[in-house]
Amino acid sequence: MRVAVAGLGYWGPNLARNFDALAELAWICDADDGVLERSRGRFPRARATTDFDELLADDALDAVVVATPVPTHAELALRALEAGKHVLVEKPPAMTAAEIDELVALAADRDLVLMPGHLLLYHPGVQKLKELVGSGELGEVLCVYGNRQNLGIIRPDENALWSLGVHDLSVILYLLEEEPSEAIALGRDFLQPGVEDVVFCYLRFPSGKIAHMHLSWLDPHKMRKLTVVGTEKMVVFDDMELERKVTVYEKSPWLRAETYGEWQTRTGDIHIPKVATDEPLRLECERFLALVGGDGDRGQVARDGALVVRVLERLTESLRGR
Ligand SMILES: NC(=O)c1ccc[n+]([C@@H]2O[C@H](COP(=O)([O-])OP(=O)(O)OC[C@H]3O[C@@H](n4cnc5c(N)ncnc54)[C@H](O)[C@@H]3O)[C@@H](O)[C@H]2O)c1
Repeated sequence: MRVAVAGLGYWGPNLARNFDALAELAWICDADDGVLERSRGRFPRARATTDFDELLADDALDAVVVATPVPTHAELALRALEAGKHVLVEKPPAMTAAEIDELVALAADRDLVLMPGHLLLYHPGVQKLKELVGSGELGEVLCVYGNRQNLGIIRPDENALWSLGVHDLSVILYLLEEEPSEAIALGRDFLQPGVEDVVFCYLRFPSGKIAHMHLSWLDPHKMRKLTVVGTEKMVVFDDMELERKVTVYEKSPWLRAETYGEWQTRTGDIHIPKVATDEPLRLECERFLALVGGDGDRGQVARDGALVVRVLERLTESLRGR
């Protein structure tokens, strides 16, 4: 499989490294000459260009990976799909629901893969969460909340919701498999007008489950944490932990029959399941290549990506008071 990677700033080289190992990295592309020059030595077998159209014109190219700044994603992904290429586009794949809907429809029409780079979905720790939720081990899930805080990176083009929240939201929607009926966000743009640095989100789902996200790049704590509260057990995925990525707490509410409706709590063992240490990005790239190769449901990844953008758009409308 011949793959091109466009955008070789901070993140793109990680994608290029993986595709160089897993497939044929046929092209590297960056609009900035200096950036491209830096990558040339690292990927000597790939052809290098500053012109995105040059790689699209290569008939033998199967797939394009878009790792450019967020405002360019939808347009570059659209051009790649129109050129008949499968697309892996970094998160968020588009900045409006209308843009992502157009991409999803085009990919379906041409039977091409459109996969958003929702890295966390491929994290073995998140896979473990999904397994615990899916098996019913947690009982009924009541609520999920994410903490994604740190001091920096302060982004100029996207706010904390689009830059950080996209990760937690993709996981929350993946775990709960529902579209929220309510989506409320509150926040403030302290540093740059119109770019919210601190955002709090509330989601309510048709089943009655609720979710919350605290997103901030103005925070003393570096937190990358998701907590799932079930009626039988509670589980924490903490990506800052090296060995204890997932912790399962046998803690739950308990209604004692003999006390006529009085709630008590129960605390049991704390369990740390083994979580594989595979690089999530490698797993994401493998999944993309498998989809391109015809393995798995191409339409589903595209539709899941569209749902994330749709909810981000609704949260943005709430944040801006519309
Ligand atoms: N999944 C993750 O965990 C993760 C982590 C970091 C970044 N990202 C995503 O990766 C993307 C890139 O982020 P970054 O931090 O590497 O940004 P960056 O600004 O460091 O790099 C972007 C590069 O794209 C190039 N570029 C811009 N327009 C181009 C065009 N039309 N054609 C070719 N090249 C073009 C720029 O010259 C720049 O070198 C963003 O979407 C970001 O959200 C994802």
